[in-house]
Amino acid sequence: MSTTLDQMEHFLGAPEASVVARVRETTSTSLDDELGILDIPLDARNEILSHWSTFLTEEAWVRRLAQLVTMVERDRGNNLALLPIWDDLDDHGTSGRLLYYYVFAMAAPGLRRMLRDQGAPDDLVSETCSLLARHGEIHRQKWGSVGVDAGWWLLPVLRGEIVQVGSLEFHRTPLGHGILACEPWYDEAQQQELGEGFRYGDESLGLHIPAFIDLSPEAVDETFARARRVLGVLWPCSQSRLMTLESWMMDDRLAAALGPESRIVQFQQRFTFLPTWHDDRDNVLEFVFRQPLVPFEELRPQSRLQSFILETLKKGDWHSRLGWIHFDGPEPRRAS
Ligand SMILES: CC(C)(COP(=O)(O)OP(=O)(O)OC[C@H]1O[C@@H](n2cnc3c(N)ncnc32)[C@H](O)[C@@H]1OP(=O)(O)O)[C@@H](O)C(=O)NCCC(=O)NCCS
Repeated sequence: MSTTLDQMEHFLGAPEASVVARVRETTSTSLDDELGILDIPLDARNEILSHWSTFLTEEAWVRRLAQLVTMVERDRGNNLALLPIWDDLDDHGTSGRLLYYYVFAMAAPGLRRMLRDQGAPDDLVSETCSLLARHGEIHRQKWGSVGVDAGWWLLPVLRGEIVQVGSLEFHRTPLGHGILACEPWYDEAQQQELGEGFRYGDESLGLHIPAFIDLSPEAVDETFARARRVLGVLWPCSQSRLMTLESWMMDDRLAAALGPESRIVQFQQRFTFLPTWHDDRDNVLEFVFRQPLVPFEELRPQSRLQSFILETLKKGDWHSRLGWIHFDGPEPRRAS
């Protein structure tokens, strides 16, 4: 079986010579400036900077960093470009653990330029770039060390196809395309009947929920209103688009478990659900417990949600469901 490093090498191919040169010319000072702009906490920054000179002596890591930056910059703006999901590289020493900080620091200036050129307001640019710090905080919570959780996720962010607006991330993608496609979707006949926006290949916006955000109804209303304004400029489209979401948060048994005041419940009630669900045990444990080293039997609940998840998983499956909301069409509804 091939390792993550083999898969990356195979997928990424040779880096651009000019990018290899940029990596080699990057100084601790310029790295520090960029990590400051990206709001990386000081203790993490110190570790990332102090490791940089060692990183530069490791040919394989220099190549990998240059490969990732080459891919991000080559595919920027092309939301049909393929994207694999890779495991994090924490098991490959300090360079593996810190790799995505270096990738983000090298590629972020180009991302900011592209977003601004496309008409993105400054707050969208800074919210989008704040995803690195967010993923760093999740890593700290899970492992107690400096690193980037789910580093692969930041690659489509750096390519400019996922942006954060207010409380949510929006992924510009044709419906049914790529590894993040919402499946199973409506069948062919239903897609034709439902029409524009519902057909495979139609432009759509995949929704994702970052950790630690404000999911209150007011914040979500404001997010959708802002998204309609700014994404209308950033990603103009002549068709009517849907926003789609597939998540552990879409288990419709949560309403009975958490009650109508729950922000998650109020959020999921905005969506029209598809009839099917799939078991999502691993994701719900990952997103809600963040304790990868603790066996299931030893997890102790700290909230009503965690209690419900443990009770449910002792008896059966977690139901991740899929739903949609009109983006360009009628106003998104709000839970009453
Ligand atoms: C999005 C998020 C901020 C919503 O949390 P919230 O605003 O507290 O949501 P609710 O009001 O519905 O919370 C209801 C209950 O569930 C708990 N809860 C909600 N999300 C939780 C989480 N991720 N971990 C632990 N408990 C959580 C709350 O503490 C509350 O319990 P309590 O009344 O016993 O204190 C939170 O779930 C989160 O940070 N999630 C991580 C990101 C994620 O899962 N994204 C989806 C990927 S598919």
